[in-house]
Amino acid sequence: MALASCLLLPLLLLATGASGIVSSLPSAAVQSLVRKRKSSSGQLPFAAHFFPQQIDHFNFRPDSSRVFYQKYLLNASFWDKGPSHSAPIFVYTGNEGNIEWFAENTGFMLDIAPRFNALLLFIEHRFYGDSMPFGKDSYKSAETLGYLTSTQALADYAVLIRSLKQNLSAEASPVVVYGGSYGGMLAAWFRLKYPHVAIGAVSSSAPILQFDDIVPWSSFYDGVSQDYKDESANCFEVIKESWDQLMTTAAKKGGMLQLTKKFKACKTIQSVYSVRDWLWTAFTYTAMVDYPTPANFLMPLPAYPVKEMCSIIDGFPTGVDKLTKVFSAASLYYNYSGTHSCFDIENDSDPHGLNGWGWQACTEMVMPMTCSNESMFPPSSYSYEASEDQCKAKYGVLPRPHWITTEYGGNRIELVLKRFGSNIIFSNGMRDPWSRGGVLKNISSSIIALVAPLGAHHVDLRFARKDDPNWVKEQREAEIKIIQGWVDQYHRDLKEPSRQ
Ligand SMILES: *[C@@H]1O[C@H](CO)[C@@H](O)[C@H](O)[C@H]1NC(C)=O
Ligand SMILES: *[C@@H]1O[C@H](CO)[C@@H](O)[C@H](O)[C@H]1NC(C)=O
Ligand SMILES: *[C@@H]1O[C@H](CO)[C@@H](O)[C@H](O)[C@H]1NC(C)=O
Ligand SMILES: *[C@@H]1O[C@H](CO)[C@@H](O)[C@H](O)[C@H]1NC(C)=O
Ligand SMILES: *[C@@H]1O[C@H](CO)[C@@H](O)[C@H](O)[C@H]1NC(C)=O
Ligand SMILES: *[C@@H]1O[C@H](CO)[C@@H](O)[C@H](O)[C@H]1NC(C)=O
Repeated sequence: MALASCLLLPLLLLATGASGIVSSLPSAAVQSLVRKRKSSSGQLPFAAHFFPQQIDHFNFRPDSSRVFYQKYLLNASFWDKGPSHSAPIFVYTGNEGNIEWFAENTGFMLDIAPRFNALLLFIEHRFYGDSMPFGKDSYKSAETLGYLTSTQALADYAVLIRSLKQNLSAEASPVVVYGGSYGGMLAAWFRLKYPHVAIGAVSSSAPILQFDDIVPWSSFYDGVSQDYKDESANCFEVIKESWDQLMTTAAKKGGMLQLTKKFKACKTIQSVYSVRDWLWTAFTYTAMVDYPTPANFLMPLPAYPVKEMCSIIDGFPTGVDKLTKVFSAASLYYNYSGTHSCFDIENDSDPHGLNGWGWQACTEMVMPMTCSNESMFPPSSYSYEASEDQCKAKYGVLPRPHWITTEYGGNRIELVLKRFGSNIIFSNGMRDPWSRGGVLKNISSSIIALVAPLGAHHVDLRFARKDDPNWVKEQREAEIKIIQGWVDQYHRDLKEPSRQ
């Protein structure tokens, strides 16, 4: 996969998810529709259910009422649903991956559920995990993938939440939605589109401004570069200068064999671009998940992995070949577990492929990105025409680059949301390059931006740990206080609707 310009990265990677959830399927017929999980390591404290969901919410043609089985996870252990209590329902609006992966990485909701006596609900996004509308054929063509849109996903969430509340006689329970990354975008948009279903949204690391030209196109990779520059000027320079050296080496006689050896590739490298992408991915994703504690979100990594990578680079004597330095740094990302004897550098089908996201990026999720001269990546521009050609070749569709801002807004968001909307927390960590496309300023008294200078990709949503630094604890406490305010307000309004 050789791209001429900056890599188009999915917001997250598809994890090779593992869960020990017991599925309660509605009928044997459904079983065939549902892809079975292969592995089952580790138990998640949820019960899995499947909801017969309508394939097309926005059309009354008879085939629109065809159903697929949408997975959701439930934990009612903390829920106090006495009529006088109407305790809240916390809902995770699933993003591009299997829902267990998000449940594992959104421990915040489990951590705070007892304080709120909350019911926990994690809903899987259509076309991911086990929620495949056309089984194995879901990704077959634009005919099936056409139902993979954010608007359909939001409608799924509204329909499922209403059904669940009815089944549990929980009409009076307020709903708060949560999400990180694309899931955070969905949470914020859900609050704006379905204010009668959710009283508030916690939208973490959600780049809802990464569309059109709302933020500079270079901001994402400038953000990645800044993380490395913050560690050391040498680290930044070595990475920046390594790209030319990579190309020069590849162009030499026997260069590809030399690269194969240097990068410990399992198979002889055919294209230098695959090596470039491999390095690029390591530096970019490590910046995203530059967590203050050891974590295993995309890959198992130590605390502050960007610092670790730069220590590796800075640890070499100046004279050492730059490719050796960047290879060693990238190995931290790919091989921190120490389990790889070689690297599968050219494997197209690695978990980074993100089947569904490719379609989403080729239709609605058009986020133009460039690399500025100041970044540590080779400078590049963005060509809508080039991405149009790729999408047409791959899926036979043309992207709609202005649809997201038409459907959800984004331009001059402060002015719009100041007069419309309420109860949204936009949380961001500035170490995460996606923060550059996030809402970083308070918009009104209830549309709040929480910005952590040292934070990474939705670190606030992770399980609390003893070794969490104070700023993480404080950010979570601030969120809990705001959520409590929404719930209290809701209960006051319920008692005395006329009161302000
Ligand atoms: C809900 O979560 C709690 C805390 O992790 C756990 O003790 C309980 O068993 C869970 N309930 C279900 C139904 O899994
Ligand atoms: C609510 O109950 C109906 C009828 O049993 C069922 O079809 C539906 O799946 C349930 N809703 C949810 C969200 O489980
Ligand atoms: C991965 O790490 C282990 C343990 O440090 C090491 O033995 C191995 O050579 C590394 N693999 C590669 C491909 O560098
Ligand atoms: C590519 O990687 C996947 C796992 O990520 C593996 O299952 C598959 O066998 C690999 N393909 C090749 C051709 O090595
Ligand atoms: C980046 O550098 C190139 C070559 O020096 C130059 O032509 C171009 O104008 C620069 N771009 C920006 C945005 O400064
Ligand atoms: C937004 O307001 C809250 C308090 O209401 C404050 O804690 C927070 O720091 C403000 N955010 C920014 C980015 O100024």
